Amino acid sequence: MTSILNAFVRCGANKSVNGTEYVYNEILPDKINALLEIGIGMGGSMRAWCEFYPDAKIFGIDIDPGCTRVDVSRATTFIGDVSDAELMAGLVGVLPMLDVIVDDGSHKAADQQAAFEALFPILKPDGVYVIEDLHVATVEILDFLNSLPHDVKFHREYTATIERRVVVWRLN
Ligand SMILES: C[S@@+](CC[C@H](N)C(=O)[O-])C[C@H]1O[C@@H](n2cnc3c(N)ncnc32)[C@H](O)[C@@H]1O
Repeated sequence: MTSILNAFVRCGANKSVNGTEYVYNEILPDKINALLEIGIGMGGSMRAWCEFYPDAKIFGIDIDPGCTRVDVSRATTFIGDVSDAELMAGLVGVLPMLDVIVDDGSHKAADQQAAFEALFPILKPDGVYVIEDLHVATVEILDFLNSLPHDVKFHREYTATIERRVVVWRLN
């Protein structure tokens, strides 16, 4: 199987330069049916997901219409702002249940919270929900996550590098 570390480097994902690749190496399920990432950027991580999970459906969303121009292999991409509740409700209506959700978007707490509220209901049991670069708005987003009901279990908070923090949540 392709290593996720190699796929991030080969495909030019920005995760290969900030230490988060080691977190993914530890937490990613071997087999999945569907993954969604918020934040397509130059398409590096989209291409890596497609390579790492050749049989899975890969989805991406980004606020920047320019993202439609990047080569994201066989991923399905959407353009829109994750803080737009109506748009997110529409997106949830067309997506399958997801095994992995990755928030690598604006890194603003309000956007992270809006995305979590919209998407967590379609995370499969035992799925993982990753919020990257927590250091940008640590207190706000952790306050929100800690206020969630008990059946939404905190899995682990990682320090990917000295200043970058990543949080992983899952349903049990
Ligand atoms: C760090 S880049 C993504 C990098 C990519 N995931 C990778 O690893 O190669 C962050 C992206 O989030 C997008 N973004 C910022 N705010 C957003 C929002 N409110 N909704 C959706 N996407 C947003 C930006 O346009 C940008 O392309």
